[in-house]
Amino acid sequence: MNEKLGMQIIGNAKKTIKVHQSSKSPFVRIGVSILYGFRRAANTVVRICVDRNFRSILLLQLLNSKNVHQTTSLTYIDRYPSIFSACREYLNYKQDIKILSYGCSTGEEVLTLRRYFPNAQIIGTDINKSSLDICRKLSVDDKISFIYSEPSEIQKHGPFDAIFCMAVLQRKPHEIASKGISSLKKIYPFEKFEQQIIEFDHLINPNGLLIVHFTQYSLLDTKVASKYKVLGNYNQNDYLTPVFDKNSNLITNPQTQNSIFIKRHK
Ligand SMILES: C[S@@+](CC[C@H](N)C(=O)[O-])C[C@H]1O[C@@H](n2cnc3c(N)ncnc32)[C@H](O)[C@@H]1O
Repeated sequence: MNEKLGMQIIGNAKKTIKVHQSSKSPFVRIGVSILYGFRRAANTVVRICVDRNFRSILLLQLLNSKNVHQTTSLTYIDRYPSIFSACREYLNYKQDIKILSYGCSTGEEVLTLRRYFPNAQIIGTDINKSSLDICRKLSVDDKISFIYSEPSEIQKHGPFDAIFCMAVLQRKPHEIASKGISSLKKIYPFEKFEQQIIEFDHLINPNGLLIVHFTQYSLLDTKVASKYKVLGNYNQNDYLTPVFDKNSNLITNPQTQNSIFIKRHK
């Protein structure tokens, strides 16, 4: 069967399902639901076979759900220019800085950081092995490396002058928004976010930066909040999906949430 014919059959099946979904007969409705289930299962099987990233994310959810934060890998070059510029300005006084890009996905964030910090040592880390494979094929200088995200491995490369954690500490924000979910307790509890921030705290030099951007929770709600002060007025006002409090409950009237933090000197 060629690809065009296959698409035609799927298209016709979709139309038939739509027409019969609202049938008055319960038998037709049940039949259509079963067909619908089959179609979804078939779609998933096809994606597992042909889409390596999809397969990798599915495996993460099944086998490593305890450690994974955001599962999707969307990224692009120079995604947060004003934040990167502010950090460059703040860190300019230092020569040999070390930067961690936590959740670097397919490496665009690391390539971007190199443009902003030409002399820094940059470590990119991700939990998705398929993304890491793509990172490792990039042509980079020898002060850039990519490692699998495991606390002990990251620790070997620290401490850091800046940790960028962008669009990582969240879970499926658009789906949460569209379904009107008001508690993240079972999906992505606050404690998991807080634990990650505490881990970062052990890895940052005094006066270093922790950038936590596009996240469903606030660093200022965590146990280590008093160790940090805000840098500038860089915030996630452009994060158009819901944010949650330390009980994992939806905040109906969210305040401005800052993104760049300086670790205070003890
Ligand atoms: C939406 S992408 C963000 C990519 C990039 N930071 C950006 O903002 O463009 C989220 C990434 O976080 C990664 N991630 C999720 N949990 C992680 C963990 N525990 N350690 C490292 N990376 C993780 C995912 O695999 C994915 O590549």
